[in-house]
Amino acid sequence: MKKVRSQDWFGRKDRDGIIYRGWMKNQGWPHNLFDGRPIIGICNTWSELTPCNAHFRELAEYVKRGVWEAGGFPLEFPVMSLGETQLRPTAMLFRNLASMDVEESIRGNPIDGVVLMMGCDKTTPALMMGAASCDLPTIGLSGGPMLNGKFQGRDIGASNVWQMSEQVRAGNLTASDFAEVENCISRSKGHCMTMGTASTMANMVEALGMSLPGNAAIPAVDARRSTLAQMTGRRIVDMVREDMRVSKILTRTAFENAIFTNAAVGGSTNAVIHSIAIAGRIGVKLNLDDWDALGSRLPCLVNLMPSGKYFMEDFYYAGGLPVVLRELAEAGILHRDALTVNGRSIWDNVKEAACWNRDVIRTFREPLKANAGIAVLRGNLAPEGAVIKPSAASPHLLQHRGRAVVFESITDFHSRINDESLDIDENCVMVLKNCGPKGYPGMAEVGNMPLPPKVLRKGVTDMVRISDARMSGTAYGTVVLHACPEAAAGGPLALVHSGNMISLDVPGRSIQLDVDESTLKQRRDRWTAPTVPERGWVKLYVEHVTQASDGADLDFLVGSSGTPPLPDSH
Ligand code: FES
Repeated sequence: MKKVRSQDWFGRKDRDGIIYRGWMKNQGWPHNLFDGRPIIGICNTWSELTPCNAHFRELAEYVKRGVWEAGGFPLEFPVMSLGETQLRPTAMLFRNLASMDVEESIRGNPIDGVVLMMGCDKTTPALMMGAASCDLPTIGLSGGPMLNGKFQGRDIGASNVWQMSEQVRAGNLTASDFAEVENCISRSKGHCMTMGTASTMANMVEALGMSLPGNAAIPAVDARRSTLAQMTGRRIVDMVREDMRVSKILTRTAFENAIFTNAAVGGSTNAVIHSIAIAGRIGVKLNLDDWDALGSRLPCLVNLMPSGKYFMEDFYYAGGLPVVLRELAEAGILHRDALTVNGRSIWDNVKEAACWNRDVIRTFREPLKANAGIAVLRGNLAPEGAVIKPSAASPHLLQHRGRAVVFESITDFHSRINDESLDIDENCVMVLKNCGPKGYPGMAEVGNMPLPPKVLRKGVTDMVRISDARMSGTAYGTVVLHACPEAAAGGPLALVHSGNMISLDVPGRSIQLDVDESTLKQRRDRWTAPTVPERGWVKLYVEHVTQASDGADLDFLVGSSGTPPLPDSH
């Protein structure tokens, strides 16, 4: 094996070598650990403010077992943790910041290989992006989903919160019953257990070949999650010895497999933005049109909320992602020869996967839903694209023409949506502006706007909604998201007025504002850009964030700097 990178620090015989080793020895490490064995950085997003990742210190101990066992030297380090439920204004505002933390922590430290500990929504793309920009041998380990929620004798998950909230507003569920949900929904360690963004991204990591097989679905509290952590620790040591870097795994082929997989699992729209951002960091060309061309006509096989009815725990017991990948491969969709972190092809990993519950994981021939992948819409309302998840939408609304009811901002929306005098009915199209990357800022998950109470009382549960925002992967509805360019960047969404007619045609892939061009030009001439925040991260973010169609990364972070030798400062 060639000399490992960490020997640039610990292999030195001079004064600097004494400093590098000597200060580490205050943790009690014996001298022989600096002998050139692979040093494995365990990149940990543990935080008590990120409940989905709060068990990661414990999980990291199992990774360390595996690293020691294989002859490596594990060193755990913290990076910025992003808790979806707590962090304001939205965790997405900090995904790129966390990715910078990851990238510079890896590059600047004596690390030869990396284990990425990921769970809550944004922690997965942030760590994948940062690691991709360094391109060291890297392996992913997800924290695993929570157990199913249990409420009044039935299983519930995060998607039910959206539904129940609407039932309360419609007067069909008492506030006290809804309050009881709080004690039932998050009853174990782990991330959200629907096919929301966290579960979707865990599936993406496995489909990309960046984790050991089975990583996506093992519940956080299942002992097999600890076993997988130990196996992950073992494997990364050998990956260093084999010089198996991120760039050998994250190829165009791997990203195509991830797009196929997202359709088959009914994954989150957020995967579009994150995958484009990760691809950008490793130098793989990937765009919105790839998502539509490769994924939109594939069926959804996995019967999980919000597209179906089960949860990640059920998915694991049914066989998990390997079953889905086998279905895709046998249907001639999956690229079978894509390399994965265990050194085998993805087909070798899944060719014997068995399904134990065909109601949870359907076959390719008898899927849960046809044509279920994310669709990309274009038109004068979103010339650079917008997305919709048809599997979570109402079929009767996929072709719809309606009168726009416009909300200029999320504040405007909250101040008027419950007003009984609001001029709106179920045939209208709700339009929300200024919630994109620059506008919110951070592109919050507010695109699935709650419906007005007077519509809900009629028993209507879905309306067409359009915005430049994102939507929680746990949410559902006929919701057009990520309209590009966003309103705050002067996109056409900024020019919609209440009363204008909007035509949505998902089969025809179009989203059209029925206003003539000369009127739009007059409105465009009167439009003024919002002011840029004065200082700090948010100023840097707003000035440099790209549009959702380009991954909403910072323009200067796209690409890779690798891990060149760095000067020391002693
Ligand atoms: Fe962390 Fe849902 S809040 S995954």
